[in-house]
Amino acid sequence: MQEQLAAIEARALADIAAAQDAEKLNELRVAYLGKKGEITAVMKMMGKLSPEERPVLGALVNQTKDRVEGVIAERMAELKRLALDARLAAETIDVSLPGRKLGRGSRHILSIVKEQMEDIFINLGYSIAEGPQVELDYYNFEALNLPPEHPARDMQDSFYFSERMLLRTQTSSVQVRTMEAMGGKLPVKIISPGAVYRRDDDATHSPMFHQMEGLLIDENVTFADLNGTLLAFARQMFGEDREIRIRPSYFPFTEPSAEVDISCFNCGGAGCRLCKGSGWIEILGSGQVHPKVLQMSGYDSEKCSGFAFGMGIERVAMLKYAINDLRLMFDNDETFLESF
Ligand code: DAH
Repeated sequence: MQEQLAAIEARALADIAAAQDAEKLNELRVAYLGKKGEITAVMKMMGKLSPEERPVLGALVNQTKDRVEGVIAERMAELKRLALDARLAAETIDVSLPGRKLGRGSRHILSIVKEQMEDIFINLGYSIAEGPQVELDYYNFEALNLPPEHPARDMQDSFYFSERMLLRTQTSSVQVRTMEAMGGKLPVKIISPGAVYRRDDDATHSPMFHQMEGLLIDENVTFADLNGTLLAFARQMFGEDREIRIRPSYFPFTEPSAEVDISCFNCGGAGCRLCKGSGWIEILGSGQVHPKVLQMSGYDSEKCSGFAFGMGIERVAMLKYAINDLRLMFDNDETFLESF
């Protein structure tokens, strides 16, 4: 019986070593160790043995069972490891492959132009002041000498939240806020870039656009200072041989008021399509700050004076980079955006 057991064990070990998957191993476990298995069968034959022989063989069968059980478990673990190795080999990531390229973003044309404009005025000693886009009627209109019912309000139709509150139509609102905050101190010398809103929408008007306001208040500020400042700006922004032309105009918050043109940088003033044959391109509104505006903001119009100007950042960008439709700047077309 002992030889028989040894022969079964040898066969079992060979079968186990040859098994290629868990299913086969389970089959072998049943075939050798199951209720009707071969080793179990040897156990059942023990009844034929003498009482002395029985415990000896019992121990032997148990040892054999344990060994076979152990070898099955080992082989099971080995098969699992092999399977994992195979999977890892099959799923290897080639880290040397180039990755997918993410397009690199670029600065928006309006940010670029805004910064160019800011740099020019910062070099002239101006600071940047900002104001809220949701603005009180008082700052957007009333304190700029545009009382309710003033007909000039019609030039700037806005989006209202209530009687008193609207989306600002002009960065001029920051003039008043700045003067109030300065509490009468001189000089006041700021530019104010930012978004403004109007009920307009066509190739040259968008319901949201950007302006840059300028304000200088000090003792003895004259129109000549305004002229020199805007000439310096025009030349740095559009070329050293630019000239400017000042035409009379009307704004409620300036007196006198002026519209400022620059000599056409495309034709040099001879007349072309860009300047519609006139040699001049309109660029901004400006003027001497109205005494009423100074007084309402706590400044003594007998002791100080000042000038203000306001221009569209989109307009400056369109002129400088020959962009013919304002809406391109808000369409998010990558080909357009990447070209600056
Ligand atoms: N706020 C005016 C507008 O939106 C532009 C402007 C004109 C600003 C004259 C000024 C100014 O500061 O003095 O059309």
